[in-house]
Order: sequence, then C-alpha cells, then structure tokens
Amino acid sequence: MQGIIGSAPPMQKLFKLVERVAASSSTVLIQGESGTGKELIARAIHYHSPRRDNALIPVNCGAIPEDLLESELFGHVKGAFTGAAYSRPGRFELANNGTIFLDEIGDMSPKLQVKMLRVLQEKVVEPVGAVKSLAVDVRVIAATHKNLEKEVAEGRFREDLFYRLNVVPLLVPPLRDRAEDVPSLVEHFLEKSNRHRERKVTVPRDIMDLFIRYRWPGNVRELENLVERITILADGEVTVHDLPEKLLDGCNQMADIFPQPIPAAAFAPQLDDEAVIDFNQQVENFENQLILAALEHTGWNKNKAAKILNLNRTTLVEKIKKKGFERGLE
Ligand SMILES: Nc1ncnc2c1ncn2[C@@H]1O[C@H](COP(=O)(O)OP(=O)(O)OP(=O)(O)O)[C@@H](O)[C@H]1O
Ligand SMILES: [Mg+2]
Repeated sequence: MQGIIGSAPPMQKLFKLVERVAASSSTVLIQGESGTGKELIARAIHYHSPRRDNALIPVNCGAIPEDLLESELFGHVKGAFTGAAYSRPGRFELANNGTIFLDEIGDMSPKLQVKMLRVLQEKVVEPVGAVKSLAVDVRVIAATHKNLEKEVAEGRFREDLFYRLNVVPLLVPPLRDRAEDVPSLVEHFLEKSNRHRERKVTVPRDIMDLFIRYRWPGNVRELENLVERITILADGEVTVHDLPEKLLDGCNQMADIFPQPIPAAAFAPQLDDEAVIDFNQQVENFENQLILAALEHTGWNKNKAAKILNLNRTTLVEKIKKKGFERGLE
C-alpha cells in the first residue's frame, strides 16, 4: 500500500480490508496501540475511496476542549454564544461529500457522544444555536488507542454509539507482532532522515538484530523517533553507544536468559542408526525448558515471562495450565 510499509501477514490482511472498505461509504472504527499507524490507515481508506477528490477533514477529539468541540464539529450560527459574531460551518459540513476522521474518539465526552449518535443515525447536524438541522453526506472514520469494548464495559463510552461506529472494525497490530517489517521500516526512515539532514548513517546487521528483538512499546512512532535520533547522533555506522538505555535494557533482559542464538547442538539428541526419537516429545521438552526458565527468571511474573518469550500472555497462561506447571513444583 502506497507509503505504508507492511509485508508481514497481519499487515497484508489489513491492506486487503482497507481496499475493500474503501469502496463503500460504511463507518470504520480503527483501533490499535499508540503509534501503530492508525492515522495512516484512515488516510489510505479515504484516498482509495470514490470520495478521494473531496475533503478529508481530521478532528482530534482528545485535543479540543469539550465546550469548543461541539461547535468545531457541528458549527454555530451568529450570536449562538458570547463571541459568536459570525456563523461558522462545522467540520461535518466542511467534510460534506468527503470523509471526516474522528481521531481519539474514546476521549469524547458523554454529552457529545449523544450528539454524535444522532448524526450517525440521521445523517444531519445541528449547528449550535440553529433552529434547523442540516443534511450531510459524510463518511465517518473513527480511531482510538483505547480499547473501546472495555470503555463500554466500564461505562465510559455509550454502547449504542460503539455499535454505530464499529460497522467495520479494523485493528492495526502492534509492531512487536510484525517484527519482520522492522528492517524495512528502519531503512525507510533512515533514508528519509539521512536525506533531510544530509547524513550518511547506516545500521549494521547486529544493531538491526537488536531492533528486531526489541518490543517497541511506542510502535512505529517510537522507531521513527529513534532513527531520527541516531541519524543526528551517530557518525557513519551506528554502534550500541548511540542507542538509548531503554532499548538496550529491553534486549538485555532477553539475552540474560537466552543468549542468542541458542546453539542447536545444545538440544540435539545423539543420533545413531538404532535411535528412535520422539519428535513431539523433544519439542515439548524444549518448550518446557524455555517456559520454566522465563518463569524462574521473572519470579513467576507471567506478564514479564510472556514479554521475554515474545508470546501473548494468554497463550503463555494456557500453556502453563495445560502443562500443569505450578510455582514451587518447578
Ligand atoms: N507501516 C508504516 N509505514 C510507514 N510509516 C508508518 C507506518 N506506520 C506508521 N508510520 C509512521 O509512524 C508515525 C505514527 O503513525 P500514526 O500517526 O498513523 O499512528 P497512530 O496510530 O495514529 O498513533 P497515535 O495513537 O499516537 O495517534 C507517523 O509518522 C507515520 O507516518
Ligand atoms: Mg493518531
């Protein structure tokens, strides 16, 4: 997809969905951790859609104070409130025949959530102070780094609005779940930053390996910032001295227990012509060793152990349960 790097299978799947939803005018809800590329995906949907020649109007619902957001979104008429010397169109009106991108929708106040529901249901907006409502033809794309299902369960987000928004749900995966894209992303931002700053910084193989192993809690944005930082600080080839502590710590924690690569010979059984080895049993033994080592190292903290093993916490917990591992019996 143009301007968006993603050869990893979850990204390829996402691009297919983007192309499919772009053709329609249905409401899209994009979820994903901070810095995963939600805004980029929203833009891709608009520019692949039949509305591409009309406006794409972004609104950051988290950044605009509540009392201003209503008039920003729906506009106001002259004299609607003190200081409203002129009528002003809202962003929905500006987005007519195009797309509105409601970023950080999870931060919208309950009062505005009600009004938003009405816009989505009836496709009309009511400028502040107006007597008549205004029909609009706007495609809505919303995004949030919050888990909206959880916000609904905890009473902070209206369930009816959630269902109105969640017509087509898209999830942008965290970078740690698509580590194979890390080298292309690094090269992409490196090329951009080198060109911009007239530098010739390169990333050697061993540093790239660190980048691939790091968990990137701030996702692509963190990677982009880091590459920018090293093009300023490094001279020629990047070394570990140019990297922030945080990244080295994250990688060292893994190297402490599992120096990379684990020598294959350490696990290969002795073979001769008579030997019969139970492949599944061997794999299971290896898996048990890895899981127990990570659990012991972290004092049975399953979150930390899952991080070290680069497994989902739920996957690890399931394995522990299935294997019957218990603290104290290890
Ligand atoms: N797959 C990608 N390929 C190239 N650049 C990317 C990719 N994903 C994200 N970026 C870049 O990373 C930065 C963060 O992306 P974006 O702003 O879309 O993330 P976000 O999910 O909206 O983040 P936040 O939750 O912090 O608002 C941007 O500069 C964007 O251009
Ligand atoms: Mg964003």
